[in-house]
Amino acid sequence: MTGKVKVMISEEQVNLRIKEMAEQISEKYKGKSVHLICILKGSVFFGCELAKRLTVPATLDFMSVSSYGSETVSSGRVRILKDLDESIQGKEVIIIEDIIDSGKTLAYLKDLLIARAPKSLSICTLLDKPDRREINVEVDYVGFVIPDEFVVGYGLDYNQFYRNLPFIGMMEHLS
Ligand code: IMP
Ligand code: MG
Repeated sequence: MTGKVKVMISEEQVNLRIKEMAEQISEKYKGKSVHLICILKGSVFFGCELAKRLTVPATLDFMSVSSYGSETVSSGRVRILKDLDESIQGKEVIIIEDIIDSGKTLAYLKDLLIARAPKSLSICTLLDKPDRREINVEVDYVGFVIPDEFVVGYGLDYNQFYRNLPFIGMMEHLS
């Protein structure tokens, strides 16, 4: 993995935005508790940073899904690799995602989780690439709207690498 990565959103900008999102969510759920569902592996970094800044009680669960297809293009066919450990029935659920691209992963997940009868279901994503949307999904909290570029870092990978970069970067050799 020797490709060059250019900073798109700095670590300071990401952390500042996550703080704002945590404040917004804490205000919305004042007096309640939230159940965060982090979608492995990409949203783990974001999910932890967000959870640390919430002022409402929060529980966490994890789900792993994979979409069949090539590395940079999502095919929309979603497979559950790891399901939730706990029931979400009656809970105020927030799905935590790293990025919404075509919208196919989230559209599938939303339907699947709504069928399990949570009290409410919201979606929170660090990044949104609206230019690439194929299925319209309503997103409640968006960190940054970004152009149609393949990005890495802060949990996002290219061939499983670069997840641990503390900023959001652009893969220069892909564009
Ligand atoms: P969607 O189903 O097309 O919305 O795809 C969402 C998933 O595709 C994300 O959770 C990522 O794993 C992956 N993905 C989409 N765009 C990017 C990107 O720019 N960098 C890294 N992964 C991406
Ligand atoms: Mg992902």
